[in-house]
Amino acid sequence: MKNCILFLSLLLIPFTPLFSATHAVTAKHVMVVSEQQLASDIGAKILAQGGNAIDAAVAVGYALAVVNPCCGNIGGGGFMTIHLANGKNIVLNFREQAPGKASADMYSKTNDLAGSTQGYLAVAVPGTVLGLETARTRYGTMTRQQLMQPAIDLAENGYPVTAYDAKLFQRFASAFRQQPNVAAIFLKNGQPLMTGEHLVQADLARTLQLIAAQGPDAFYQGSIAKAIVAASQRNGGILSMADFAHYRVEELTPLSCDYRGYTLITVPPPSSGGVILCEMLNILVPFSLYDARHGSINSVQTIIETMRYGFRDRNSALGDPHFVHDPIKHLLSRDYAAQLSQRILTTYTNPSSIVNDALPELTDTTHYSVIDHQGNAVAVTYTINGFFGAGVIADGTGFFLNNEMNDFSIGANVANKFGLVQSDANAIAPYKQPLSSMTPTIVMKNGHVFMVIGSPGGPRIITAVLLTLLNVIDFQMDLQSAVNTPRYHYQGIPDVVNLEPLALPFLTSQLLVIKGYPLITQDGWGAVEAIQVLDNGMLYGVNDRRRPDGGAAGY
Ligand code: DON
Repeated sequence: MKNCILFLSLLLIPFTPLFSATHAVTAKHVMVVSEQQLASDIGAKILAQGGNAIDAAVAVGYALAVVNPCCGNIGGGGFMTIHLANGKNIVLNFREQAPGKASADMYSKTNDLAGSTQGYLAVAVPGTVLGLETARTRYGTMTRQQLMQPAIDLAENGYPVTAYDAKLFQRFASAFRQQPNVAAIFLKNGQPLMTGEHLVQADLARTLQLIAAQGPDAFYQGSIAKAIVAASQRNGGILSMADFAHYRVEELTPLSCDYRGYTLITVPPPSSGGVILCEMLNILVPFSLYDARHGSINSVQTIIETMRYGFRDRNSALGDPHFVHDPIKHLLSRDYAAQLSQRILTTYTNPSSIVNDALPELTDTTHYSVIDHQGNAVAVTYTINGFFGAGVIADGTGFFLNNEMNDFSIGANVANKFGLVQSDANAIAPYKQPLSSMTPTIVMKNGHVFMVIGSPGGPRIITAVLLTLLNVIDFQMDLQSAVNTPRYHYQGIPDVVNLEPLALPFLTSQLLVIKGYPLITQDGWGAVEAIQVLDNGMLYGVNDRRRPDGGAAGY
């Protein structure tokens, strides 16, 4: 046992940079923040070896696929927002894509969410491997093997399960038991692994090795695609080899908007995140939130009503731009924002009609942020959607596949698992990408990076990022307080304001009830992993208190 502990500490020493902690870290040159300290440490080590922020982001992406099994992934997809020190800004879209045989009514028989959330029919073609490789080859400096080796080592040698992992394994134990190949990885003698026990992922290690050696072809054309397609065909799915061969990563021009002297560089469709974040900030321009005070009925009701319009537009107007016209110019125009600000001032409530009982899952995506010594900054949010995605692993591959098909509008007036009732703009079609809420964002001030930010949380991603930005910019909080402060969320449908415990002063919540807002208090959600560049140029890395396994690493 002693030897084992000694061996483990030796293993961990090389990953430990000078400052590495689950509380806020201040450092001069580089910073990495993620939901898993081990992954942040790997990113900082890559930077110490001379890699840039993009290299670190690729290494962290693969590391989280191992040490954050609920959410980090190679079976899903996401978005990477990059600010290069030379001034260029880019978004890489590696969102999953619907299979060629997908159709608008493919879930009409089930209509109960099950088909779009569990099993192979829920799986869209994953984008993470091609996304990370595109980032590396276009903007990174290190070899694939160098960036993947730390993840391969962690999969091969194992890592100690954290308390958060253990709780999730416990919660999903009966689902794991139903899939023998999942049980073989995540259960020991039929029981979920406990805190501190080692999770070894031999199949995943082999898969990662294969990708490191052969590149994305192994995933999109070779044995990995073959294993997934075979498992899909055996289990009622529709994935084909042609779907994998068809998958492409796109480089997008970021969406940009200004708010009180700050400029946001954020994601355009097929994520709704950037558009709706910018729309909400535009609406809030005329309101002096600081004077109204944080938590006051005036500031809270103004923000809730702003969320209402943001989500109304998200759910009625947006979809994959290769299939529909997204009215971004209109949604982000000053005139439109002024109209909505005026409506908020004069009418306030306008209750939404449909209430449903969809249970939101809260942190099953993951976000991380990186800044390097040259001034490059990277924000990545990627996901397999639900906790452990569709709950299935193709034999021999070792990783969960996403259930991203549930992000589409799966039927008229049918809420998805986040309670979102969406329009035909987000209807399912072959090779279409489902509308996302992911919002990896870089905030600039006077031409320099000011903040790198993002979060998991489904639709709550957008409001978690909004509230954190308002806490810093309007309410003048330091970043750690801004992130830790309890959140609220409103998306119109269902017509319920969700509150984290202690989110609002008693008086404010009572006044909201009197004004007709149904309130529901829930456990915390989101995990904002963010970096701020302080006035003196120091980097301030902040982990969300809601993810105690997370942390910042910098030097
Ligand atoms: O792309 C999206 O918006 C969702 N698939 C994100 C899911 C998510 O954040 C889950 N965590 N709560």
